[in-house]
Amino acid sequence: MNILIMGPAGAGKGTMSELILKEYDIPHISTGDMLRENVRNQTDLGKEAKSYMEAGKLVPDSVIIAMVEKRLQEPDCQKGYLLDGFPRTVVQAEAFSEIADKIGKPVECVIALEVDFEVLKDRITGRRICPKCGAIYHIRNHAPKVEGICDECGAELTQRKDDTVEQLVVRMDEYEKATKPVIDFYEPKGVVMHVNAARPKEEVFGEIKEALGKIA
Ligand code: AP5
Repeated sequence: MNILIMGPAGAGKGTMSELILKEYDIPHISTGDMLRENVRNQTDLGKEAKSYMEAGKLVPDSVIIAMVEKRLQEPDCQKGYLLDGFPRTVVQAEAFSEIADKIGKPVECVIALEVDFEVLKDRITGRRICPKCGAIYHIRNHAPKVEGICDECGAELTQRKDDTVEQLVVRMDEYEKATKPVIDFYEPKGVVMHVNAARPKEEVFGEIKEALGKIA
């Protein structure tokens, strides 16, 4: 299965990806997670990406395309992919079309999550993440059993540096200007699935699961 999951900051890409991976044995490739790992490890790529990410801006296309192309050459991608947060610009989408053709894995479904700003604001400011295993929580909607502690691995939960209202405004602006056109890019190919993601996550996932079941 070859899937892209798209949507503005806080739409639930990571949350839905966790659920999709319970159904399908494919690698989850989140460009945001890959970049954060590079920042943590202070690689050259991480040093370049850090200031863009902390400002809520997009990291330059050339950096992202090279990073994804390398990852897609790993053997686990023979099974397909769940790409989360990529492509995010039309330049990335065009480059990705060539990469997907080269590895013989064309996109079968683009899940476009749609949520209003007010809901996103609540989700982003209430989000907590596990720095060790990557589990995602929310202080009200999906609280851990013990406050501040990951249910899965016991690590102390943290808040992302870009999870502020100020950065959300910038991230939304980037999404409107650069990423929405990517959905238009895929629309004529008949692979886009628009999902109202402002509903409870079980409902959102139910709709996604049903649609993926039809193309699996
Ligand atoms: P990235 O990590 O991709 O961040 P993002 O797109 O801003 O998305 P988020 O991870 O913030 O949100 P999400 O949609 O995954 O929501 P989640 O499931 O956590 O990118 C970060 C940065 O990296 C970018 O700003 C950019 O600088 C750079 N970057 C990455 N990719 C790039 C690219 N291709 N090109 C250039 N730059 C790139 O959910 C959020 C919260 O809501 C959670 O607390 C969750 O529990 C809760 N929640 C989720 N769904 C529901 C629901 N249905 N009901 C109630 N609560 C819910």
